[in-house]
Amino acid sequence: MKQVYVINGPNLNRLGLREPNVYGHETLSDLEAFIKEKGKQTSCEVSCFQSNEEGQLINWIHAAGDVGAGVILNPGAFTHYSYAIRDAIASVSVPVIEVHLSNVHAREAFRHESVTAAVSRGQIVGLGFKGYHLALLALMEEGEI
Ligand code: DQA
Repeated sequence: MKQVYVINGPNLNRLGLREPNVYGHETLSDLEAFIKEKGKQTSCEVSCFQSNEEGQLINWIHAAGDVGAGVILNPGAFTHYSYAIRDAIASVSVPVIEVHLSNVHAREAFRHESVTAAVSRGQIVGLGFKGYHLALLALMEEGEI
C-alpha cells in the first residue's frame, strides 16, 4: 500500500483558533480526519504529524525518505526562511508536495517567497483543505512511492 506522510509545521496546531478570517474555523484534527478519509478512499496509508519545531519536521522528512513515503508538507512560516528544511527535502528521493492553506501570494510580501518550493515536487496554495487532497491525488500518481 502506498504510504503518505502529512507533515504540518508551526502554529498549524492552532487552526480553528488562529486568524479564522485567514484559515477558517476548522481545526488540525478536522484536517487530519479529512485527509485520512481521503487516504482510505484511495487505499493509501496516511500518517499525520505536526510540530512547532524545525528539527522535528526535518526528522520526519528524513523518516519519510527512509520508509519510501510521499510527503505532503505545510512548513508554515519555515517555508519563507528555513534552509535546513529545504536541505532536508533535497536529501530525500521521495516526492514532497508543498501545501499552503492560504493564498500566500495575496498576503504580506515576506510570504511570497518559498525557499522550499524549488526542491519540492510541486506547490499548491490557497485552496484550504482541498489542497491536501489534490496533493494526495498527485502523490498517488507518482512512481517513487
Ligand atoms: C501557511 C502560510 C504561512 O505563510 C504561514 O506562516 C502559516 C500557514 C498556510 O498554510 O497558509 O503558518 O503555511
